[in-house]
Amino acid sequence: MKIFHDIAPLRAALKNAGRVVLVPTMGNLHEGHITLVRDARKHGDAVVATVFVNRLQFRPGEDFDKYPRTLSADAKYLEDAGAEFLFAPAEDVMYPTPQYFHVDVPDELATILEGEFRPGHFRGVATVVMKLFQIVQPDAALFGKKDYQQMLVLSALVREFNMPIEVIAGDTIRAEDGLALSSRNGFLSATERAEAPRLHRLLERLVASVRSGDKKFEQLENAVMAELKQNAWSPDYVAIRRRSDLQAPSADTGAGHLVVVAAAKLGSTRLIDNIEI
Ligand code: PAJ
Repeated sequence: MKIFHDIAPLRAALKNAGRVVLVPTMGNLHEGHITLVRDARKHGDAVVATVFVNRLQFRPGEDFDKYPRTLSADAKYLEDAGAEFLFAPAEDVMYPTPQYFHVDVPDELATILEGEFRPGHFRGVATVVMKLFQIVQPDAALFGKKDYQQMLVLSALVREFNMPIEVIAGDTIRAEDGLALSSRNGFLSATERAEAPRLHRLLERLVASVRSGDKKFEQLENAVMAELKQNAWSPDYVAIRRRSDLQAPSADTGAGHLVVVAAAKLGSTRLIDNIEI
């Protein structure tokens, strides 16, 4: 695997690389990221993984400073997974001057759910991914459904700006007890780690109720919120939404078109999860 920290040599190396598949990450890689990289291999000739902790998508007071940076372990992991190229730019390579232009994500996607609790987050994500798309010029890019709203934002970005990039969504990879893998899981204490799978368990229970015909969505959402609170979580939201745009479902939106999305804090760690229904 070739590692690049600068744009020009990466571009030169990609010139004759065939069909290029991009997997953007913020590093501290786990099996979720690596599964995307392995899948990426099936969609092209050369896999480019990127590792860059993007300050623009963090709010002041969020975990940008303590976000784990583990580049040498990440590089080994990526090489074993079969990535051909790793692009790991320093901050002044990605942002040599302040970023004055931004991708303005429409309110319908940017201010709901994650966007309500992390204002400006998707603007930061869309802006850095737009830059990565211009730098790498991939034919395809993979994103995880773990970050469901992000995946929809980035699919819409590609569609609306007519970028010739195939967006491919990867399934959420979980620990054996159901907890969705996340770089933030490392912040959990042992007690919190034992408690953390409750979020997924409660979502599974809600999904089972909806699948068996329960249409009282608000009641189901509130029951999960209440149970999280009883167990010392601080839930931000639990919401049954349309898969296509994360808006509230109408009466005739059936199973197969729904997703339940949730975010909750356990101690000081904020976890997100979702299940398609
Ligand atoms: P990061 O959180 O590092 O995630 C990188 C990619 O891995 C994203 O597409 C994310 O959805 C996916 N991913 C994370 N955990 C996963 C899991 N358990 N199962 C499947 N896929 C998983 O998401 C970002 O970085 C950033 O916002 C980024 C897109 C790189 C822009 O900075």
